[in-house]
Amino acid sequence: SIYSIGAIILAYIFGSIPTAVWIGQAFYGVDVREYGSGNAGATNTFRVLGKKAGIPVMLIDILKGWTATNLAYFIGLSITGPEHSVQYVNYQLALGIVAVMGHLFPIFAGFRGGKGIATLLGMVLAVHPQAALLCVLVFVTVLLITNYVSLSSILAGFTFPVSLIFIFHVSVKAILIYGMCICVLILVTHQKNIERLLKGKESKVNLFGKKKD
Ligand code: G3P
Repeated sequence: SIYSIGAIILAYIFGSIPTAVWIGQAFYGVDVREYGSGNAGATNTFRVLGKKAGIPVMLIDILKGWTATNLAYFIGLSITGPEHSVQYVNYQLALGIVAVMGHLFPIFAGFRGGKGIATLLGMVLAVHPQAALLCVLVFVTVLLITNYVSLSSILAGFTFPVSLIFIFHVSVKAILIYGMCICVLILVTHQKNIERLLKGKESKVNLFGKKKD
C-alpha cells in the first residue's frame, strides 16, 4: 500500500541521518570518517571527539532505529484479525532493517555511514525491550572487561537471537530469522574490527573518556 511505501522511504531517510558526520562537522569542523576507525558512528565520534559528542550521536542513532521501527504502526492500522501481531512484528523488523541500511549507506553523506549498532539497538528496543536490555547488559559487561567496543557489539548482537530462543522462548519465526540475519550483518560490518581483534591490534576505549590504545 501507499502507507508501506511511505514508511519504507521514511525509515531509510531516518536511518540516513548521518549523526556522527553532522555533529562532527557542525560543532568541531571535523568529519569523523577521516580519523580513528573511519567509521561514522557513535564509537568513533567518542574516540575522536570525546563523550560530549559521542553520547548525543549514540542517543540520536538509537532514536533513529526506534522511530523507523515504530513506523510499523501506520502500516499496522490496515491489518486486522488474529494475524495482526505476527504481521506487525514483521513490518517492524523490515522497517528497522531499512533504517539500519540507511545508517550504513546514508543518502545524506555519500553513502558512507556507520556499522549500525546503535540503530539496531533502537530497533530491538522497539521489538523486544527485555531482550534489548539483556543485549545492553552484555555490551556493557564485555566493554568493562575488555575495553573493545567492537567485541561488545558483536557479542551483544548474538545475545539477541540467543536470548529470544533460550530465555524468552519466542517462537515467531520472523523474529528468529531477523535475529540471525542481524548477527550475520554485524559480522560483515565488523570484518575489519575482527581482523584487528585477532591480530591484537584493535583500539581500546574505556567508558570514562580516556583513550587507552
Ligand atoms: O558501533 C560500532 C562499533 O562496534 C565499532 O566501531 O569505530 O571501533 O569500528 P569502530
